[in-house]
Amino acid sequence: MAGKTTVLQKETAQDEAGCAYSFAQRMQKTPKSFIREILKVTENPGIISFAGGLPNPELIDVDGIAKAAAEVLRDDGRTALQYSTTEGYLPLRRFIADRYKKRLGLEIAPDEILITNGSQQCLDLIGKVMIDPMDRVAIERPGYLGAIQVFSLYEPVFVPIDLRNDGPDREAFEAAICRESPKLFYCIPNSQNPSGITYSPEQRQACAEILKGHRTIVVEDDAYGELQFSGKAYPPIKKMLPDQTILTGSFSKIFSPGMRMGWVCAPKKIMEQLVIAKQASDLHSNYLSQRIASQYLATNDIDAHIRKIRAAYSRQRDCMINALQEEMPEGITWTCPEGGMFVWVTLPAGLSSMEVFNKALKEQVAVLPGVPFYVDGGGTNTLRLNFSNSSPERISEGVGRLGRVIRSFL
Ligand SMILES: Cc1ncc(COP(=O)(O)O)c(C=O)c1O
Repeated sequence: MAGKTTVLQKETAQDEAGCAYSFAQRMQKTPKSFIREILKVTENPGIISFAGGLPNPELIDVDGIAKAAAEVLRDDGRTALQYSTTEGYLPLRRFIADRYKKRLGLEIAPDEILITNGSQQCLDLIGKVMIDPMDRVAIERPGYLGAIQVFSLYEPVFVPIDLRNDGPDREAFEAAICRESPKLFYCIPNSQNPSGITYSPEQRQACAEILKGHRTIVVEDDAYGELQFSGKAYPPIKKMLPDQTILTGSFSKIFSPGMRMGWVCAPKKIMEQLVIAKQASDLHSNYLSQRIASQYLATNDIDAHIRKIRAAYSRQRDCMINALQEEMPEGITWTCPEGGMFVWVTLPAGLSSMEVFNKALKEQVAVLPGVPFYVDGGGTNTLRLNFSNSSPERISEGVGRLGRVIRSFL
């Protein structure tokens, strides 16, 4: 059955002075970002926070980016600070196309790539050009909160697709596609946010076969593809269904999230619409950021940098998994991600992760309750833990405290 549209947060129509504001209907269906709300609580540096989803700041190459910025401003400052094209800086799009070819054997031409303001903007543009109110949008259960939030603006009916350890539940997926004919299937096959699950090659193939012949467009969000710790690159669904897949990517996790650099690759007809929507939204992405990123990529060994990030996150993941094994009482399970930044924890049925969150906060450790990742309710006994932004020492200490909090409920 299709999930209901999430109504988590009603905007108040009246302010304290009694002024009435009539907001658009769509705002009533768009949840406030629960993560941003929680992050406000966890800003205190004394708190060990597994709640957010930040890359490790130690792994941002500040000196390298400063040098690239200085070179761009020195050599071509007036152009780099000028307006530019909506599609984005061509050498950067060529870099992305070449990398797809080299890493994944994927043939994508630079003019099939649009540079966006982070990959989050891709989701907004896709929503804008594809989703009408009440359209069906299939999404993993649990699903990425940022996608739930942005798609909600376009008032779809979400169709949740349960995830197993190696990808979507095949039978449920096929049944949902046949029954609901969703316009989009949004998925994160590499190190999914929030669950950490990576689809196996067989599951990717199975998804593609199920979708073949249907009108559903796959939105394949590959924010974490470069962060598979083994360096292994799984075949993207885009390769199996090139004309039916929109692939999104991001420099946030491998370069710098603050630069807000992402991109979308789409079949020609869809790309034409995305470019119009992008033009209407913001004319083009920050051109200076594009030039700096391009200069950096041309003058630095990005593969060596990515290897460094993978090695560090892999150690942090190991540390979290070891701590969970040592500290968690029986009946608690968790995923062991092959990459990315998150571990997904399932508590015994009936134990509320919101209560665990509140009590853990008193012990100065922050976790993220899983409820907002479910478009149809549920998940009340699940938690997301981020490992990329805490040192191994703080991970061990924080999981120890969390273990004691959970024991106190059992
Ligand atoms: C799965 C996924 N997609 C997209 C994004 C958005 O990233 P950005 O806009 O920084 O590229 C994130 C951010 O954490 C994410 O986890």
